[in-house]
Order: sequence, then structure tokens, then C-alpha cells
Amino acid sequence: DLTTELAGVRLPNPVMTASGCAAAGQELGQFFDVTELGAIVTKSIMRFPRSGRPTPRMVETPSGMLNSIGLQGPGIDSFLARDLPWLVQRGARPFVSIAGSTVDEFVELTRRVVNSPGVSALEVNISCPNVENRGLVFACDPMQAARVIEAVRPHVPEGLPMFAKLTPDVTSIVDVARAVADAGADGATMINTLLGMAIDPDTLRPILGGVTGGLSGPAIRPVAVRAVYQVHAALPEFPVIGVGGIRTGADALEFVAAGATAVQVGTVIFNDPSAPMRVVRELDSELDRLGIASVEKARGCAHGG
Ligand code: DHB
Repeated sequence: DLTTELAGVRLPNPVMTASGCAAAGQELGQFFDVTELGAIVTKSIMRFPRSGRPTPRMVETPSGMLNSIGLQGPGIDSFLARDLPWLVQRGARPFVSIAGSTVDEFVELTRRVVNSPGVSALEVNISCPNVENRGLVFACDPMQAARVIEAVRPHVPEGLPMFAKLTPDVTSIVDVARAVADAGADGATMINTLLGMAIDPDTLRPILGGVTGGLSGPAIRPVAVRAVYQVHAALPEFPVIGVGGIRTGADALEFVAAGATAVQVGTVIFNDPSAPMRVVRELDSELDRLGIASVEKARGCAHGG
């Protein structure tokens, strides 16, 4: 049984796309029925259209992918008019990710999103690594993270869960999780990408136009599992969505055992667009193999008890 209750929302299974890896879902529709996933998390949307950072913006490394997209996107007006309706009309469960460069922008985006019918949840991305001013990574500091969440909280209606997306690039992700929980977040999505860079072996210059970028894929999975485990140990009632390098059902179950209520599949989509649905099936067979009746029973297993 894969049915999942995540911060009060019922999902047919705990598997969703990770923000930024499937735009607003249309392309994935060629590969599987997007309503069969637990949810579709859309790419972080900002107030205005953005062209992003200079190219090149993606580098493959042996253990994962580096990107410095820089929140390229159509802006909230176009997203609400053209992208969100595609998901809503199909009956998919859209988790809308928003990104602002100021607290006021987060509030404005929240007001626009919650007034749009068909949204299942809000993911507040306070941890994008690809901003010109690194001081804007709110989730690097518990107090800055709390400022954003406190400001949007009054605008999110009852019954619409709000998740804060956290960065692993901090001394204590537990301190940041506690700060957003106290500020009124209904849960946390963790982790966002790790800040990294790559240097061209011939020119000895940075490969990415933006110099630094976010590392994703298999390399970051142990970091993500550790973050989920620590936050679940400290805040066992606080729902966590686990994300970072998940490629298989066994990977997903590792996050559930660490304490995740749901999981997101991201980077593997670029190689295998039907991976999220495959992870749903594999998660089911892993539970069967281990004789565990439901995904909810597996949650937090790694903590013993
Ligand atoms: C973006 C890139 C990321 O790696 C990330 O984690 C969030 C946002 C971006 O540049 O759009």
C-alpha cells in the first residue's frame, strides 16, 4: 500500500518530481500519465520572466550534474495562465514551487498561487544556489529562512500545505528545519543542490558561465539521507519530503526509512524521463520483498524502536 498522507493531503503514492527537473509536467506527459504520480512539483517560478545565467549552464560530472540555470522561467503570469492549467485539467496534483528575491516577492507569489484553483501544495524555494547575490539564499540562515516562512504563512489557506525547500550548505540543517517549523511551515523538502563548480582541464577556466552551480544526482544522496535522518530524529512530527539522487525504488525506500513521508525524483529524469513512475513500481516491489505492508509502516525504520 503506497497511499500517503502528507501534511493532511492524501496522495496515491509518495513519489513526486523534483522541482526544476520536469518544468510544469507537459513533457513528462509523453512518457506516462502524470496523474499517477503522487504529485508534480513545478520548476520554481518568479514574479517576472527571467532568462537565467550565462551559458554553459550544465556540466556532467562522474557522480552527478552541475547546473547554473539561474531560475530561467516565464514568470508567474504566464505560469498561471498557460502551465498550471495543463496539470489541473488532467487532475494531476500540482505542488507549485515559488522563488523570490525579497520577502515581499515571496508574499506576492504566494497570494497569486493560492488564489489559483487546483493547487495541491506550495513549495517555498528559499535555497536556490544560482542567484547573483549569495546573500539571497535565505535558507543558509535560520532567521532569514524563518522571515520568509512567517511572512507567507498568513496567506496560505487552511488545508493547503506549505513546504520550505532547504539547502544542505549549512552547518546545521536541523537548526534551519526547526526555524521554518516554528515559523509555520507544514513540512520541509530536503535537500536542494550542493554548491559546486568544475574547471575545464584544457583552458583551466570555470566551465559554467555562472562559475558555480548546484550539484545533483547520485553523489548527493548520502548527504540528503543524512539530512532527512537528522531532521526526523529532532522533529519526528514534522513532515519531510526527501530528495537527492534517487534513481530506484530502493533509493526511495532508503529516504522513507530515514524518516521521509514522500520523495522526489529529479536528475535521473534527464536520462530516463519515465523514472518517476518506475520508482513508484519499484518502491511497491521493495516493500513486498521485505514483507512490509505499507510505505507508512516503513517510515522512520532506520531510527529503530
Ligand atoms: C536552480 C538550480 C538549482 O540547482 C536549484 O537547486 C534550484 C534552482 C536554478 O538555477 O534555476
